Amino acid sequence: MAFAACGSETVTELSTGEEVYEARCSACHGADLEGRVGPALDADSSSASMPDSYWVQTITMGKGSMPAQRLTDNEVQLVIDYIKSKW
Ligand code: HEC
Repeated sequence: MAFAACGSETVTELSTGEEVYEARCSACHGADLEGRVGPALDADSSSASMPDSYWVQTITMGKGSMPAQRLTDNEVQLVIDYIKSKW
């Protein structure tokens, strides 16, 4: 993995799931997965029982009033792993 832009403000790919979540999900799903305009994503939520394919599709294609998130495949996997690590 390349950290070419380390320390600059021109980082294009977020490198940890936590960074992806905070940058791209927390405004709608809450800093602690508790939900805001979007539903909770915590261990008790309906999405917790869904397969990764559902998560990938929801994140990359959007769902209902959730806009599709432009993330790399790697970022999508990182953010799913991060959310699951909080359960
Ligand atoms: C602009 C606000 C917004 C952002 C940003 C956003 N979401 Fe959502 N999300 C929503 C809304 C609203 C829904 C409910 C969509 C519906 O069912 O109509 C939703 C639904 C979901 C669901 C399905 C929940 C369920 O019960 O089926 C998942 C999973 C999800 N979001 C994950 C994410 C992740 C991960 C990110 C960050 C990569 C993210 N969302 C970014 C607003 C957002």
